This record gives sequence, C-alpha cells and structure tokens, in this order.
Amino acid sequence: MGFNPFKERGIPLEKQLRTWTELNLQPYDKEAVHPFSRCRGILANGIEVEAVMFSHSMARNVIDPELRKKLAMVRRVEAQQQKAINWLIPGNESTLEVTIGYEQVAVDLTAWVAQNEPDPYLRQVYEFGLLEDFDHLYRYANILDMLEGKKAAKIVGELTEITPGRPTIFEHRDPRDDVRRPMTAMAAHPQSVLNALTVMSAEQQTMNFYMTIGNRYMEPLARALYLEIGMIEEQHVTQYESILDPACSLIENLLLHEYNECWIYWSFMQEEPDPRVRALYEKHLAMEIEHLRIAGELMRQIERRDPEELLAAGFDKPMVFKENKKYVRSVLEKQVDLTARDTDFVPITDLPADHRYFVYQSSVNAGENPSETVINEAIAANGEEYRYESEGDNPVPGLCREKKRKDRSTEYAKRLAA
Ligand SMILES: [Fe+2]
Ligand SMILES: [Fe+2]
Ligand SMILES: [Fe+2]
Ligand SMILES: [Fe+2]
Repeated sequence: MGFNPFKERGIPLEKQLRTWTELNLQPYDKEAVHPFSRCRGILANGIEVEAVMFSHSMARNVIDPELRKKLAMVRRVEAQQQKAINWLIPGNESTLEVTIGYEQVAVDLTAWVAQNEPDPYLRQVYEFGLLEDFDHLYRYANILDMLEGKKAAKIVGELTEITPGRPTIFEHRDPRDDVRRPMTAMAAHPQSVLNALTVMSAEQQTMNFYMTIGNRYMEPLARALYLEIGMIEEQHVTQYESILDPACSLIENLLLHEYNECWIYWSFMQEEPDPRVRALYEKHLAMEIEHLRIAGELMRQIERRDPEELLAAGFDKPMVFKENKKYVRSVLEKQVDLTARDTDFVPITDLPADHRYFVYQSSVNAGENPSETVINEAIAANGEEYRYESEGDNPVPGLCREKKRKDRSTEYAKRLAA
C-alpha cells in the first residue's frame, strides 16, 4: 500500500493554525500508554524540532523577502505541531522516565533503520550508533532505579532489553573520527535519505533534551551522567548529519524535510493504537502534504526543477516501532569492540598506541567516569546493578553480570542507603 504525498491534497496553509486549546491536548496516562506510542511521540517531536530549526537556519541564509515570509508562515505551523505533540507527555512522568523513552527511541528506531537501509556503509553507521544508545539505556536505567526506585523495564514495556552495549566510557572519540562519508542525494535510494534525516532529527532532539534538562537533578551523579551522555549525543549528531548530502541546495533540503515529515506521519497513523493520537497524526500528515506542495512550488519557481522527478515513487514502507531484541544482540556480539578511524569502523585493538582516540580518551576520562560510577554505585547499594535481560546473559562475555559484590561500598552508597 504505497503513498505518494505529491498526489494527495492537504489542508490549505491558511487553515492550519490552531487555538491554544486545540494545541494543548490532554497528556497520555503514563501507566496506560503503549511504550511505542511514547516512542512515536518523542520521534515526531524531534522531527518537528528539526523542521523549525532547519527553517530558521534557512531563513538566515536567503535574501528573497517573499521566500522569507513563506518560510515564516510554514514554520509557525511547524512550531504549533511541535507543541501539540510534545505536550502529550504528562507532567507526572519524571525527567528520567522520559529519558528512558528517548533512549528506547534511539535503540528501536536505529535498529529498524539499519535493517531497512539499502546502503551497506550507511547500515554500518547505524549499527555503530545503535550499540552506543543501547548502553545509555542501561546506564540511565540504573540511576532511575537508584534515585526513584523505578524499573526501566516497565517503561520500555519489556520490549527492549536493558544490558550493557558498547560501554559509554569507550564511546568518547576524537571529533574527527565522528565525521562519516556523505551520501549523494541524487544517487542514493530515497529510503536512505528518509532514514538519515529521521535518525539525525531524533539524535539532535536527544542532544537538545540533555543539554536542557541534564542539570535538573540535585543528585551530583545524575547531573554527571547526563553531562557525559549528552556529549555522546553531540558525537551522534556529528555522525548522522555527516552522512547527508552536503551538496543539496537549501530549497532541495526543505523539500526533503517536508517529504520526511509526510513519511513519519503516514507511518505513525498506521501504527498508533490510541485513536486520539492517531487523529493528531492524520491531521499533521494533511498539513505536511501542503508544506510539501509549497516547497515543491518554491523549487519550480526558484530552481526551475521538478520536485516530483526528484522524489518520484512515494513511500511503500512505513517506519515501524517493533521489538528488535535478537537483532540488537547479534550486532552487539559482532561489533562491540568497534571504534571509528576517520570514516571507517575498526576494532579498537587495530589502532596504534599513539592514535588520537587514546589522546581524547585520556583527556576526558582522566578522572572519574560517571557512566562507570553509576554501575559501581548500583552494585554497592543493591549488591547488583539493574538489568533486564529477557533473552539470556549479555552475548559478550566481558559484559555479563559480575558476581554480586558488596565490597565496593562508598560514601555515595552509604548516603543513598541512609
Ligand atoms: Fe511539521
Ligand atoms: Fe543515547
Ligand atoms: Fe544517541
Ligand atoms: Fe512541515
């Protein structure tokens, strides 16, 4: 069942503005929401944030006053869409609970994308990033357990395992080794463009989120963990933006953004079980169809190119949040020891001892490492760290549970126990 947004009629732009009441929907019930509904909301929010920020950045780089006004009009709607979606998150979901949702998105979105990526190099890029966010989920799950006494497995609905991935401590790389080889939009499969824009937007919003809320905890270890993982999200945005075609014009990029928004809402309205939220996705799709038409018109006027020629076929495959436990395990087993050397991925053991990776590692990891401390503290406090391993032990022997230890008691553990 294909869908070509160029062949559909959307809502005229002048009818897209909504009242404050229409935008301020009743948030979901955190006890009843399907974990993948939470994930879809987080991802759709990331897509809208990117729509807004891309449009602002474009507006700063074009001269034509009519074009700037058109961008402002569409952008006002994107900003309303972002509010409608992000305000579905209820106030009683704690920042750490929302964070678990963000990392579940990173795992199960990236897993879907990697398995549906036609280009083998790009697939490797996604698998590489996947293992890092998978580890973040485990680190945050432990601080959530310690600070709030909540089990992350319940939040992820036992649909995603919680166990070490590529340990966060090893993810810190020289910035130059996070820059990948770009695709060529004209030659790339359209699915590759959608995949890259979507994952980049999701990672960028995760970066934004940790930048903003990482200082909202009193607990020094929670602040430290957000700070450290926030820096990895910076690396992830560097990686994912670098696979996009840097030769795309601003207009072409605008068109691709609107096309991507259509794909996401078309996907989500098919999957979403909550009828209220499904109706929201349907409405947003109808808005995006009009945004796409407008971007196409701008392309015809300004660049004298045919947008439908660029994106001929429409979509046939929806992005689906589903369980990926076996797939994630297989990637973990094979790729845990990879790092990046320029645009390629190699085992850490292949790097010469004087490689810039080790220089960077020793510059940031010289003192305490929060993502390691959080696990040591969990073991000290509870005898073992928090995991959710439904499919057996971690597939990497070195990442299996250590024996229960209580000899690592520290000041911090005593404070928590008190
Ligand atoms: Fe939008
Ligand atoms: Fe992450
Ligand atoms: Fe990430
Ligand atoms: Fe849009």
